[in-house]
Amino acid sequence: MKLGTLFLENKLILAPMLQVSTAPFRRFCRKFGNIGLVCVPMLYTKRIETHSRSVLRYLQKIEEERPVSVQLIGSDLDALKSSIDFLESYQFDVLDINAGCPSRRAIKAKEGGYLLKNLGELETLLKTSVKYSSRPVSLKMRTGFNNTNNIETIADIVNRSGIDFLTIHGRTVKDRYYDSTLDLNTIKKIKSLVKIPVVGNGNIYDGLTAEKFLEFTNVDALMIGRASMRNPEIFQQINQYFSKGIEPKHENSFSKVRKNLKLYEECVDEYLDNTIDMPFSHEKFKLMELRRNAIWFTKNIQDAISLRTQISKTKNLEELRDLTAFD
Ligand SMILES: Cc1cc2nc3c(=O)[nH]c(=O)nc-3n(C[C@H](O)[C@H](O)[C@H](O)COP(=O)(O)O)c2cc1C
Repeated sequence: MKLGTLFLENKLILAPMLQVSTAPFRRFCRKFGNIGLVCVPMLYTKRIETHSRSVLRYLQKIEEERPVSVQLIGSDLDALKSSIDFLESYQFDVLDINAGCPSRRAIKAKEGGYLLKNLGELETLLKTSVKYSSRPVSLKMRTGFNNTNNIETIADIVNRSGIDFLTIHGRTVKDRYYDSTLDLNTIKKIKSLVKIPVVGNGNIYDGLTAEKFLEFTNVDALMIGRASMRNPEIFQQINQYFSKGIEPKHENSFSKVRKNLKLYEECVDEYLDNTIDMPFSHEKFKLMELRRNAIWFTKNIQDAISLRTQISKTKNLEELRDLTAFD
């Protein structure tokens, strides 16, 4: 399928998730089957402008992950231009602009989700990105800041901006992540208003929710975030549902958790091999990655709350390995 000028093998995208969809995680999810596009979580343009070395670890070996998107967050034009310039030498496929982050930090800095309140600035940032980037540019946004009243104006901006595609998460910035509020109507509306492909995002957790999302909104592709933390096979399972109409059964067992952790460790090792500019030791990085995922992988297992508490307290790989050997 095509998203603007970008060719993707399928219409499923792994969402950018800060401190979750890390390089090992992106590699890991792809071990189960191909994913159309994977996304590097937001990089602050101000940080790139002043301390570019500090983001090197998020970009190394990125060429091995193609097709891959890199996301920038910021509202300062000079910082945006110098970030685009800095990124030029890396081999990635899409430059994504964040206009959805609801964090206090982003709103205070008038960036991310705040841009949906400051549409003039959003337009300038998008046009600047299109002008300076040699890669296709996309925008990732929410349905509005406090409400969806501006959606037509936003659609006009998107149409004028020259970007290649739009990703929309069906919540306002104010809604943050509250589950009851996913708004497919506004996604459907913006899809009918813009002339570029639209990626829909929010609360997709199996084949049926993916199918309903597509049918109701008519979007071109789907982005999946949190569901992949519990179930990294979700992309392959949804693709299977699309082709065969069968929802695969989840295997929730300790042996599955152990198998996944082993595979995850291989992905961390692949990523760490010959890496540079890590702010912590390889051992510490590995522990953080494996501990976080061990907690997620055991979420589908009944009565594993105390196990997860123990996992969260492990101080080294040996302790973690002992706890997750499940012998
Ligand atoms: C821990 C976490 C970190 C996130 N980091 C980012 C980010 O860096 N950039 C971004 O555009 N969205 C970020 N998001 C939002 C997700 O990309 C996605 O839009 C949201 O989780 C809704 O999709 P889902 O219901 O499939 O999870 C983050 C979400 C979570 C849960």
